[in-house]
Amino acid sequence: MILYIITLVLGSLLIIPFTVKTFCPHVWMDLQYCGLMLRILLRFVSRRRRRPYFFVVDRFLEQSVAHPHKPFVVFENETFTFSDADARSNKVANALRSHPGYRAGDTVALFMGNEPALLFTWLALAKLGSPVALLNHNIRSRSLLHCFSCCKAQLLIAGPELKDAVEDVLPALTEQGVTVLLATKQCDTPGIQSFADKVDEAPDAPLPRSVRSHVTFKSPAVYIYTSGTTGLPKAALVNQNRLLTALAILSSNGVSLDDVIYVNLPLYHTAGFLIGLIGSIETGSTIILKRKFSASQFWDDCRKHNVTVVQYIGEVMRYLCSTPKRENDKDHKVRVAIGNGIRADIWREFLSRFGDIKVQEFYASTEGNVGFLNYAGKIGAIGRVNFFHRMLFPYTLIKYDTERDEPVRDANGLCVEVPKGETGLLVSRITKVAPFVGYAHNREQTERKKLRDVLKKGDLYFNTGDLMRIDQDNFIYFQDRVGDTFRWKGENVATTEVSDILTLSGCIQEANVYGVQVPGHEGRAGMAAVTLTEDAHFDGSKVYQHVVTYLPPYARPRFIRIQNAVEVTTTFKQMKVKLVEEGFDPARVRDPLQFLDDKQKCYAPLTAQTYSSILSGSTKL
Ligand SMILES: *[C@@H]1O[C@H](CO)[C@@H](O)[C@H](O)[C@H]1NC(C)=O
Repeated sequence: MILYIITLVLGSLLIIPFTVKTFCPHVWMDLQYCGLMLRILLRFVSRRRRRPYFFVVDRFLEQSVAHPHKPFVVFENETFTFSDADARSNKVANALRSHPGYRAGDTVALFMGNEPALLFTWLALAKLGSPVALLNHNIRSRSLLHCFSCCKAQLLIAGPELKDAVEDVLPALTEQGVTVLLATKQCDTPGIQSFADKVDEAPDAPLPRSVRSHVTFKSPAVYIYTSGTTGLPKAALVNQNRLLTALAILSSNGVSLDDVIYVNLPLYHTAGFLIGLIGSIETGSTIILKRKFSASQFWDDCRKHNVTVVQYIGEVMRYLCSTPKRENDKDHKVRVAIGNGIRADIWREFLSRFGDIKVQEFYASTEGNVGFLNYAGKIGAIGRVNFFHRMLFPYTLIKYDTERDEPVRDANGLCVEVPKGETGLLVSRITKVAPFVGYAHNREQTERKKLRDVLKKGDLYFNTGDLMRIDQDNFIYFQDRVGDTFRWKGENVATTEVSDILTLSGCIQEANVYGVQVPGHEGRAGMAAVTLTEDAHFDGSKVYQHVVTYLPPYARPRFIRIQNAVEVTTTFKQMKVKLVEEGFDPARVRDPLQFLDDKQKCYAPLTAQTYSSILSGSTKL
């Protein structure tokens, strides 16, 4: 009898895995993922308990003690080991400490390109316990001033090549009593001080921990700018707690000490900074830093440096796939690609062309409180519904009215969850484990991202602004963004900011800005439907000059549609939907169309010929 029971039990134990594998093919991956999350959580909790406090900078210091001579960052023809980076950042920190324009704990804005100096300066400020605002080095004038001011920074450190842009806003900075440092050995402009010479002279002695003793987990660590739904960019506050969680991103994707990671995305964004840089500090991997993404140099760089991990955004993958095929396409050591926004067709093409690379697609936003990882490797998906994950981060998809631009509410005033297979707005409950910190000194914008009374009266959710769909197999797919923003060249474009700028160009009275789809491109190209001021004519070169002066390349409207009057019969929202649908086809749109011609440096009439050469890809956008 006993033997019989034992046989039965053993037998069923053997059968269970087989049955489960047949009927729920992803269950092992799901369980593995739970295990991984549990490990991350435990490590995080144990670090949070350490005294004195343990921050990201302490992880860096651990790494530089563990392997001081290992390359930390390679840039162009220079290699900096962990110990070099430690010494360099000490010099920067010591130079700042003795600078009269800096007081302990001051917020410092960095306006620099993707180069090692940015890493060392950030590290120096982390050692000093100063929050760092990572300014986008493409922005100019009004946007630059706005970004600088909204995190209440007292000091600006700029890269040598950005001197003109700084001089442009210098009067306003001087008026606010801001100290402006330029990373050069000398500078003749009154009001701007050289800084590289001071760094060279400063000692590389380590900083005592006491200089950052004021820092807690709630203290701001970095500000990263996002163009959310409306207006000028907002500074998302990344506090020390969140920075500590960011350590896990690469390691949870299987990246380790021996990996070499290719960072070609801007360090002022989440992808480059939080994932590439902070992620590597946890793993101790070597960073191959690139000033700018280049499709033609990508694989040669990977071969030259034995790169094993690359980062991407959707555009990167598309550009890589559209380069001319080469015989050595599969000759490289890249084994993992981590990023987001890759389209299913490009994903397939990428694999067939560049070989067996594990594409780790994920979803996250700088300020959001929920993220997904496509751990099952399902092409086209961003992640998977996972019981354990959902318990930690309670999220749901709710019905959204795209015409009225708001969630649908039922008779009780609550939101309505969408069934599987339908598209809905991703919202995630704000909890202690999944907090939403918000934007720096901007209560109004922070409140706008919160959604109340979602499933129960009085509950509180974070509104991601992203439309998603969950299929019958529990895979999650990104569908679209809502609101007054669209993506182009990997950047969010805030339509209200663009229309504000357009209306200052002299001849434009009103501007309605939106994004239009262009075949063969990710995201949407900027387009503006404008009305002209009375008696004015459209001056293509003047508007062009204005646009390139005040807007970064990705935000410049590629097309302008000149209307006699704004339609008054429809609502603003309906009108926008119609404009987006009509697009930029001169055969379809009756109004005169203008096209941003970078070669001629003006807006020129969009002819049927230009239209077809844009569609065929011979005219580049
Ligand atoms: C890359 O790997 C090869 C072979 O493993 C080695 O000979 C070469 O020195 C490595 N290059 C770098 C830059 O590490």
